[in-house]
Amino acid sequence: MGKVYVFDHPLIQHKLTFIRDKETGTKEFRELVDEVATLMAFEITRDLPLEDIEVQTPVSPAQAKTLAGKKLGIVPILRAGLGMVDGILKLIPAAKVGHVGLYRDPETLKPIEYYVKLPSDVEERDFILVDPMLATGGSAVEAINSLKKRGAQSIRFMCLVACPEGVEAIKEAHPDVDIYIAALDEKLNEKGYIVPGLGDAGDRLYGTK
Ligand code: PRP
Ligand code: URA
Repeated sequence: MGKVYVFDHPLIQHKLTFIRDKETGTKEFRELVDEVATLMAFEITRDLPLEDIEVQTPVSPAQAKTLAGKKLGIVPILRAGLGMVDGILKLIPAAKVGHVGLYRDPETLKPIEYYVKLPSDVEERDFILVDPMLATGGSAVEAINSLKKRGAQSIRFMCLVACPEGVEAIKEAHPDVDIYIAALDEKLNEKGYIVPGLGDAGDRLYGTK
């Protein structure tokens, strides 16, 4: 069964508070999401495998560590997931970036896929799928389906705010996928919004309504 990790680092929690605040404007919201994505990338890469190599320091040869293992792929779920990409790439600049375009039908809340483009060596990469919100879980489950259908073998899902319904949906559909979140909120409301959440992530990032 997939595991759920809550990143309770004080900087992440502090910044998330201002992301939630409805008085936070678009510019600051975008900057904060970018910063939290960087901090979450730092946490999620904690278990990356290392290998020893030899380097020559100005003083002597040294055995030193370097990243080993599979290359990484970052996949934002469009459009709100885009707001997290640059923040992650600051720490993992060599990662390739795929895209999955999905939106929730406002009536049925079911995800509608409109775009998919992944790195060609999809089977060789460890993927981090990113989206600020995990609500019903429909979008994340569909995006994971999409990645797996194209050959992805290793996927982790990272988001800012989740609710129990979304977490359960991923666990049930994709028990091999671990979930990394900054906060687990109380519930979904009747319109499919996370309570207390942060509102519509895409609209707040891009100033649309
Ligand atoms: C939001 C959010 C997730 C999805 C979560 O996207 O960014 O992708 O809703 O909801 P779910 O878990 O119930 O599927 P939205 O559909 O509003 O599209 P947008 O990013 O283009 O604004
Ligand atoms: N999508 C959002 O952007 N916010 C929510 O609360 C739920 C889905």
